[in-house]
Amino acid sequence: MRYLRFMRYQPLSADLYKANRAKFAAQMKPRSIAVFFSNDIYPTSADGTLPFKQASDILWLTGVDQEETVLVLFPDAHNPSDREILFTLETNEELAIWEGAKLDRTRATAATGITNIQWTTAFERTFHRLMAEADALYLNDNPHTRARNIVQTRTDRENAGLRANYPNYEFERSAPILYSLRAIKSQEEVDQMQRACDITKAGFERVLQFVKPGVMEYEIEAEFMHEFLRRGSRGFAYTPIIGSGFNACVLHYIENSAECKAGDVILMDVGAEYGNYAADMTRCVPVSGKFTDRQRAVYNAVLSVMRGAMNLLKPGVSLHDYHVQVGELMTKELLDLGLITADEVANENPAWPAYKKYFMHGTSHFIGLDVHDVGHWHEPIQAGHVFTVEPGIYIREENLGIRLENDILITEDGYVDLMGQIPLEADEIEAMMAG
Ligand code: GLY
Ligand code: MN
Ligand code: MN
Repeated sequence: MRYLRFMRYQPLSADLYKANRAKFAAQMKPRSIAVFFSNDIYPTSADGTLPFKQASDILWLTGVDQEETVLVLFPDAHNPSDREILFTLETNEELAIWEGAKLDRTRATAATGITNIQWTTAFERTFHRLMAEADALYLNDNPHTRARNIVQTRTDRENAGLRANYPNYEFERSAPILYSLRAIKSQEEVDQMQRACDITKAGFERVLQFVKPGVMEYEIEAEFMHEFLRRGSRGFAYTPIIGSGFNACVLHYIENSAECKAGDVILMDVGAEYGNYAADMTRCVPVSGKFTDRQRAVYNAVLSVMRGAMNLLKPGVSLHDYHVQVGELMTKELLDLGLITADEVANENPAWPAYKKYFMHGTSHFIGLDVHDVGHWHEPIQAGHVFTVEPGIYIREENLGIRLENDILITEDGYVDLMGQIPLEADEIEAMMAG
């Protein structure tokens, strides 16, 4: 047992998880219970499985990065020991031999701050006893606008069972509460995200030394992965995009299969995960180490929009208004580059402005445990939110796509750039490639 380490990463403190649960409980109705489930381990074929990926909500509430976990919150329970209960996968010697030990009760309490730890097999019985004291039940769901909820999650499956077993209770939704709470990052979370950004930086600096004409896009992917894993990350926070030349204009290009040719620019949208927190970075570099004048002009236009956009992000701003203003910044740059005309702008359709021809995606999204993290888009920006800033210009007819992306923390009076130390200026990129 001496060599056993439960996690590859430095976990966050039990105090943070206690505070997170307290914030959630404070928003629950009287005499209500909330229940949260871990993810399943997803099957592939035969006896294959995907690597386990914890559901972000139970992770945010407990830090438990393990399957078959259930959290029950019941702030008004008569018996104080029923107010928070964590159910975990039963450990035994057989499991320890095949898979290594799972969390035992002592470790589960130390990691989460929850004193009442039970095996998952006891969930139904305990839960039924608690329901006798309750009027309402908070269930979780995934209302993320980009989610394609086509696979039944453990949460969906358990929810269906609970609704069938307790049809006369009031049902409430946890997701809107979690969207508010998870969007505001605590200092410990910001530190963890900073580690993910720093690991991403190390990967990028390695790649700057590696890129030359003839390298394959997947070789660049491998260089990032090497640097990520050796620094305690478990890999990419999302499927990386390494697209050279025309491939940079294919927004969701993930084949990463082409050779990088002299004269082309490579777009790299890559971020490390660390302790389940995501970094999301995009950089563009010239294959031969020097941008052409045209490439540099487009690069600097994107950089200028990125800087302008960052300065717009502050508490109180609406994300919708912000996106309109960034569109105005982009319009000006595209006019200067000669890519759109004043006439096209004057006659543009407000629902699909002229700039969208070359910049067709959003500029910012919440980021945290999930790359496209949860948060209320229709509410004003608050200090503690973390956003990406990622303008781009994609010129298919020139085989050139430039996107630049950093992750920034909103503060009371502006922002802190968590990627401020990652080379960004065209000159800096060229100097590091030459060095
Ligand atoms: N890497 C995904 C995104 O930039 O949103
Ligand atoms: Mn990205
Ligand atoms: Mn992004």
